[in-house]
Amino acid sequence: MEIAYSLSIALQSHQQLITAIIITLLSLLAVRSFFKRPHHKSNVTGTATSSAKKQARETRPSSSCNHTSNSAALLNGGAAGPAEEDMVMADVSKVVAEMQSGASMMEQLVPEITTHALSYLDYPSLCRLSMTNSLMRKAANDDNAWKALYHKDFTLEQDTVTPVHGWKAYYAATRAIMNVNTDFFNIIKDGSLSSMSRFWLNADYVKCIHASGILFSGYNAVIQSWQHAFNWEQGVDFQVRDVRARVLTNMAWVTMKTYVDMDNGAFNMTNIFEFHHGRWYLVEHHSSEMLADGDIGQQIVH
Ligand SMILES: *[C@@H]1O[C@H](CO)[C@@H](O)[C@H](O)[C@H]1NC(C)=O
Ligand SMILES: *[C@@H]1O[C@H](CO)[C@@H](O)[C@H](O)[C@H]1NC(C)=O
Repeated sequence: MEIAYSLSIALQSHQQLITAIIITLLSLLAVRSFFKRPHHKSNVTGTATSSAKKQARETRPSSSCNHTSNSAALLNGGAAGPAEEDMVMADVSKVVAEMQSGASMMEQLVPEITTHALSYLDYPSLCRLSMTNSLMRKAANDDNAWKALYHKDFTLEQDTVTPVHGWKAYYAATRAIMNVNTDFFNIIKDGSLSSMSRFWLNADYVKCIHASGILFSGYNAVIQSWQHAFNWEQGVDFQVRDVRARVLTNMAWVTMKTYVDMDNGAFNMTNIFEFHHGRWYLVEHHSSEMLADGDIGQQIVH
C-alpha cells in the first residue's frame, strides 16, 4: 500500500506525462488489435498506422460511449441499457480475442493506481481505453474515474450527489442535456420557428418568460411568442456561459448566463426539460428581465 501511495504521489506530480503514456499505450493496444493479421505486424510501431488509428477512433467508441440518445433510459436503468451492454460485451470479447497474448504495463498496475491515472483522461480517451481489453474496460468503467471526469468537464458542484445508476450514466445524461440545451441557442441563432416548435413539449402547462418580462403560458402562446421574436429580431447569437445542469430520471434543468455581447450584462436563464417518448422537450424557459434603460432590453424579447 505504501508503494501504491508513493506511486500515486508520483502520478499526481507527473499527470501530463502519465496522460501521454496512457494515451500512447492505448493507441498501441488499439492499433495492435486492429492489425491482427501477421503480415501487418511489422507496421505496428511505424508511422503508417495513423489511418488505422483514425479508423479505430471512428468505429470503436460509438458503440460504447455514445449514450446521447438514451440517457434518460440509462438513468432509469431502462430498456436501452442492457442491450447496449451486450453490444459492448460482444465488442470487447471480439477485441480481446483479436489481441495477441502478453500483458501490457497498464495491466500490471495496482487497481487504485489505474483508477487514479484514468482520472486524468478525457472522455474520448476513456471511451477508447475501455475498448482495448476486459481489464481496461473494468478500470475505465470505474465510477470514481467518471466522477472525476464529471467534475472536470462540467462542475465541481453536485459533490454530495449519489447518482442512482453511477457516475458514468450521470456523465452521459449530463452531456446529453448540455447538447440539447446548445440546440436551443442554435435554433435562436437560426431563427427557425419549425425547429423551435419541435423543441417544446406540446402541452398546456409549458411556460416561457422572455427578457421582456412577459409570461407566455401554454404551447400555442409560447410558440407564437417565438414567432413574434423571430420576426422582430433575426438570429441572435448568444454567448452562453456558466452552464449548470441537474438531471433526474425524467426531468432536467439547466441554468446559464447568456450575453448578446460581452460588454453588456448577462441574461440569467433557466431551461427546464422533460423526457417523453425517447427525447428531451423544453417545458419552461425563463430569462431574467433586461431593464429598459439599456437599449438591448428594447430590442430583445427572448
Ligand atoms: C451519438 O449518436 C447519435 C445518434 O445515435 C448521433 O446523432 C450523435 O451525433 C452521436 N454523438 C456523438 C458524440 O458521437
Ligand atoms: C444576472 O446575475 C448576475 C449575478 O450573477 C447579475 O450581476 C446580473 O445583473 C443579472 N442579470 C440580470 C439581467 O438580472
